Amino acid sequence: MQNADMADQNSALAMCWRDEYSIGITEIDDQHKELIKRFAAVEEVITTQQGWSELHFAILGILRYAEFHFQFEEALMRLYGFPQIGSHIQEHRRILQAAEIFIDESLRKVAPADVAQFYQNWLATHIQKDDRLYAEFILAGNPIVTPPCPRLDTSSAKAPLV
Ligand SMILES: [Fe+2]
Repeated sequence: MQNADMADQNSALAMCWRDEYSIGITEIDDQHKELIKRFAAVEEVITTQQGWSELHFAILGILRYAEFHFQFEEALMRLYGFPQIGSHIQEHRRILQAAEIFIDESLRKVAPADVAQFYQNWLATHIQKDDRLYAEFILAGNPIVTPPCPRLDTSSAKAPLV
């Protein structure tokens, strides 16, 4: 196998789900699998030198899914009273802001030079380190702390219109 082929194979492997990425919460693992699939799609667009619109929509696909995924994680952290939720949310905001810049650059047809590296870092630092912290907190058996939604008060129902 040629060195270039091996390098291509290694970079493709880097964007595949591996069991060691699991943080132990199936729903979150499934969402991370979806994110990694979308990271790989961006990598594919870049390595096969597709057009700016393919790159734009691939990046946009990650941003839209990340918005949903981050909201899901933040709700989970609130539910269990995860103490470091503030810094985790700040990191989510930083990632979303960077992703918005990539979207803007792709619309102006400027190839974001470090886009693949950005997703690699997201996988290596946020998914494999930061997310593991709240998962360990939840899996340690900490109870749900958020009170249930208030029930609708139906006792003061208005009289029907005459
Ligand atoms: Fe997160």
